[in-house]
Amino acid sequence: MIVVVANSKGGVGKSTLAVHLAAWLHELGRSVVLADCDTQASSSEWSREAMPDVPTVRLDDPDAILDELPALAREYEFVVADGPGSNTETSRALLLRADLALFPCKASLLEARALAQATAQLRQAQDIRGGVPEGVVVLSMVGKQYRLTRDMRTAAAALQLKLADTAITLRQVYADAPGQRAVVWHMGTRARDAAQEMRALFAALLPDVRRAQKPKRRAAG
Ligand SMILES: Nc1ncnc2c1ncn2[C@@H]1O[C@H](COP(=O)(O)OP(=O)(O)O)[C@@H](O)[C@H]1O
Ligand SMILES: [Mg+2]
Repeated sequence: MIVVVANSKGGVGKSTLAVHLAAWLHELGRSVVLADCDTQASSSEWSREAMPDVPTVRLDDPDAILDELPALAREYEFVVADGPGSNTETSRALLLRADLALFPCKASLLEARALAQATAQLRQAQDIRGGVPEGVVVLSMVGKQYRLTRDMRTAAAALQLKLADTAITLRQVYADAPGQRAVVWHMGTRARDAAQEMRALFAALLPDVRRAQKPKRRAAG
């Protein structure tokens, strides 16, 4: 399965989401590779430091993405691809190969409207591929008091996107994580709430992954 973290805006939390998703899958015992498709290469560097056992590859041009993602998907159960903050041809290539596309987005109407460019590409990919990939908006960097507003639901619905029920809160621990060469669930009690929301988000986005793990745990315990 190829999960792409897209959104042509920079600084919305794509790399943070991608590194944590790869780490979560790895820690559930799944085979996963992180494909860093941003020329800045920040997520592969962070992932290698935080999770040396998670393989990373850099694919930062559209041809490499189109050519190599399918091979990676045959080799690994999950490919988590971290998208770039600008290059639209790279984003387009990712959406042409993705099974699931996550769009982290700050919780403001202006940000949601800025997603229209990314979702136009999503529509094209879905049109070409018979409905795939599914697109889900993940609200990112929201205030602790934030509740999903009707406005955001309406904005997501207008773009024909699902909206994840769990949002990622604005927290200093997320900003500190790369510097500490860690993902939040390696950062102790101060990161407990962050770890909890990330796990809740991933379990809801990929419910089958969680279910498939249960028999294993019982067998091990
Ligand atoms: N939920 C969050 N709360 C606080 N800071 C965050 C959060 N998510 C990301 N950051 C920080 O914001 C910056 C941009 O995040 P990043 O994941 O690199 O976004 P993108 O990959 O979309 O450019 C980074 O410094 C990151 O550590
Ligand atoms: Mg990034």
